[in-house]
Amino acid sequence: MLDKLAIAAHDLRMTYDGARPVHALKDVMLDIRQGEMLLVMGPSGSGKSTLLSIIGGLLTPTGGSVSVSGTEITHLGRKALGRFRLQNFGYVFQTFNLFSSMTGAENVELAFDIRGVRGRKARTAVRDLLSQFGLNEQADRLARDLSGGEKQRVAIARALAGNPCAILADEPTSQLDAENGAIVTDILSELARKRGTTVVIAAHDDRIQKVADRVVRLDDGRL
Ligand SMILES: Nc1ncnc2c1ncn2[C@@H]1O[C@H](COP(=O)(O)OP(=O)(O)O)[C@@H](O)[C@H]1O
Ligand SMILES: [Mg+2]
Repeated sequence: MLDKLAIAAHDLRMTYDGARPVHALKDVMLDIRQGEMLLVMGPSGSGKSTLLSIIGGLLTPTGGSVSVSGTEITHLGRKALGRFRLQNFGYVFQTFNLFSSMTGAENVELAFDIRGVRGRKARTAVRDLLSQFGLNEQADRLARDLSGGEKQRVAIARALAGNPCAILADEPTSQLDAENGAIVTDILSELARKRGTTVVIAAHDDRIQKVADRVVRLDDGRL
C-alpha cells in the first residue's frame, strides 16, 4: 500500500502579501505515499499550517502545484475543489472546532449529512465511529461538556465521515495532556496502519515522532 503516491507537492511557494510580504513556503517538494503517516515538524512560524492548508486544498499557493491521487487540485475551480475536499480529505485541528452546543454524535452526523448520508444509515455509521474510539458513553453529551481528549476523538470521527483518503491534522495533540495525547496519537497511527489512510500531521510532539513512518522538517519555509 505504501508505494502508491497519494499526494505530490511540487515546487510549492506561498507568499502572504502585506506591508512586508511573508515568504511562508519556498520551493517545497514533497511526495506522500498512500497509507503513510508523515510528521511535519518545525518551529512556530516555519510554515507547517500553511503547508497543510495547501496540501488539503484550503489555501491556494502562490506558485507550484499539488496533486492528490492524480488530480491536480491547484487548478480546480472553487466548486470542484469544495467537492474534492469533501470526498478526499478529513481535517483535525488543534482547537477541535466542534459545534459546542451540539452533541458529539450530532457533530459527526452533520459531517455525514453534508455528504448526502442521512437517516438511519448515518446514525448507524456515527455510532460505529464513536464506538471505535471508545465514545459510546459520550455520544449524547454536548461537545462543550466533553474533555479535550474526548473532543479530539469526536473530531477524528467527524474527519472520517467521508471515508477520506487523507487526514490532515494540525497540532492535534498540543492542547491535550500526555495521556490523551497518546490516545489521539495511537488512533491516528492506526488509521494509517489499519485503514491505509494517509495521515499528515504538523506537530512538535515526541510521541508522534516515535510512531510516524517519516519525519520532515520545515525551517523558515524550506523543507
Ligand atoms: N494569513 C496570513 N497572513 C499573513 N501572514 C501569515 C498568514 N498565515 C501565516 N502567516 C505567516 O506565515 C509564516 C508561516 O506561518 P504558519 O504556516 O502558520 O507556520 P506554523 O504553522 O509553522 O507556525 C509565519 O511567518 C506567519 O506569520
Ligand atoms: Mg501552525
